[in-house]
Amino acid sequence: MNEFLRQLPKVELHLHIEGTLEPELMFALAARNGIELPYASVDEAKAAYDFKDLQGFLDLYYQGMNVLRNEQDFYDLAMDYFKRARSEGVMHIDIHFDPQAHLQRGVPLEVVMAGLLRAKEEAEASLDLTIGMIMAFLRDRPADEALHVLEQASPYWKFLDAIGLDSAERDHPPVKFQALFARAKELGLVRVAHAGEEGPAEYIAQALDILEVQRIDHGVRCLESDDVVKRLRDQQTVLTVCPLSNVSLKVVERLSDHALPQLLAEGLKVTISSDDPAYFGGGLLENHLACADAFGWDEDTFRMLNRYAIEEAFVSEQRRDELL
Ligand code: ADE
Ligand code: ZN
Repeated sequence: MNEFLRQLPKVELHLHIEGTLEPELMFALAARNGIELPYASVDEAKAAYDFKDLQGFLDLYYQGMNVLRNEQDFYDLAMDYFKRARSEGVMHIDIHFDPQAHLQRGVPLEVVMAGLLRAKEEAEASLDLTIGMIMAFLRDRPADEALHVLEQASPYWKFLDAIGLDSAERDHPPVKFQALFARAKELGLVRVAHAGEEGPAEYIAQALDILEVQRIDHGVRCLESDDVVKRLRDQQTVLTVCPLSNVSLKVVERLSDHALPQLLAEGLKVTISSDDPAYFGGGLLENHLACADAFGWDEDTFRMLNRYAIEEAFVSEQRRDELL
């Protein structure tokens, strides 16, 4: 099974590029940019990645990305991950990135975009890997700030496949971003949103009804509402489920307790992603291996999950045909 999963051409729909910052690169970039880290060593950083919940993780995630200052830093971050993912049999990744988290630190949008877009272009030219771009907005920041950033990003709209919604979910319901998502729709951008990770099933319903999203990131708490499950099944809305993330952030205690088998049994269009692989114990291959271990899925199940991801990925029709 391990060799099968390594060879299986895999597609990832839910990955935060800032969440791929391995401690080794964090230390290298800190040295390059003259930044002091709160850790004495790589091992000390890794030991700190023991999270109580989503907020506990987000605190370290935003702190970690402080080493990203220059265009080259964003390029190195993305290119490092693209090479690693490709070596694990990943063929396509839709990446989320968080402009507000960089703007807040005084890093201009142009710096972020130039580094990420250069890495995307080079990866697509040299690695047989394709990359989709999801500009994500932080739901624990003001809604009008998000709208302002979307307007500021006008030179880059043509490079975006979608906008997304992430960060601390509790008490930040999708409805807060109604105007942002309406504007993105007006611009012809696809919409996705994190919902039902730590927040209630009601937030999934809001994301569908009010934000008109095409996918739900996570969505595992849909099982708390029969109505929401029925809607997701009827519409075959893709859920981008992140098994190792859910264990790390204590959404579930053990992977063997995870609702993934139940989500599949409900007839939902489930896909597997890694979310923030540098913080949660591995990338897409590790997530597949962990699921094989926890659920005993056969090869056909993994093929089906990857087919769902390919059907939904932000790729050209030609690339989709290649991948299917
Ligand atoms: N940003 C990065 N990872 C995230 C997650 N798992 N949930 C919400 N926001 C995030
Ligand atoms: Zn996420």
